[in-house]
Amino acid sequence: MRPGEAPHPAWVAYEPALMPPLARMAEEGITVLEEWFRWGEEWSMLLRIYGNLATTGRVLEIGCGQGRVAFALRYLLAAGSYVGFDIDQEKIRFLTRTFHPAHANFEFIWADVHNSFYNPNGRTPATQYRFPAADRSMDLVFAASVFTHMVPENAAHYFEETARVLVPGGRCVCSFFLLDHYVRTRQRRPGFDNARFAFDHGYGGFGDEFATVEPSDPERMTAYRRSLVERLAQRAGLRLACEPLPGYWSAASEAWIGAQDLLVFTPA
Ligand SMILES: C[S@@+](CC[C@H](N)C(=O)[O-])C[C@H]1O[C@@H](n2cnc3c(N)ncnc32)[C@H](O)[C@@H]1O
Repeated sequence: MRPGEAPHPAWVAYEPALMPPLARMAEEGITVLEEWFRWGEEWSMLLRIYGNLATTGRVLEIGCGQGRVAFALRYLLAAGSYVGFDIDQEKIRFLTRTFHPAHANFEFIWADVHNSFYNPNGRTPATQYRFPAADRSMDLVFAASVFTHMVPENAAHYFEETARVLVPGGRCVCSFFLLDHYVRTRQRRPGFDNARFAFDHGYGGFGDEFATVEPSDPERMTAYRRSLVERLAQRAGLRLACEPLPGYWSAASEAWIGAQDLLVFTPA
């Protein structure tokens, strides 16, 4: 913890020191502690069911943030290995200082990759970043609310890197806001029925297959049509392992499996 920042009390969680302070969580829009746990548990469930996560799995997380999902995986993956990378140096510093010493099989890597919202001064274009993993070395690659902050040219390269590092038969589980589920005039669900999720602006030459909430900062929040995601993934050598799973956010369907829409890929 930084000076002046009280760690969470022991009754909140085992290993409370692995959790970021509330003020840091709030920077991610998490205003209640329950949401921090809920999201991690949601992803732990999704990765077990759709990512074939095994206790001995080799896992790569794209955009690991402050370790919200890693926290939920730390004992599940006790006999496996986990590498998480993120472009926010502070988050990686925190995880390297706290999480890695407690769980040596969890590693965190900083990537100084440009993102108009999260790292506007990043030196490496996302299209040139090489994931910190060898070819065909990962059973599972996942991204929890990261492609929701990326423009298509960058997502295309991240799919190529995912295809490179996955073993044959491996899984890639990632969340999106699918424009197929976005109807401007329909009331979205609580928490999402506000301007932060108003995908009303085009970008680049992607027509109605891609939208951002803020053209001057396109990676603040992004949404894709399924057709575009599938095309980018196919070009990279990935195919959908199942139909996209609808999320809660859009109110497009009564049944949903998590907050965001979920896409599951496997090497073609
Ligand atoms: C909404 S947060 C989600 C964090 C984490 N996945 C979680 O579930 O708590 C999005 C994260 O993606 C990271 N990010 C954005 N663009 C990225 C990129 N090109 N490569 C890796 N991480 C990225 C941000 O720094 C941020 O930590």
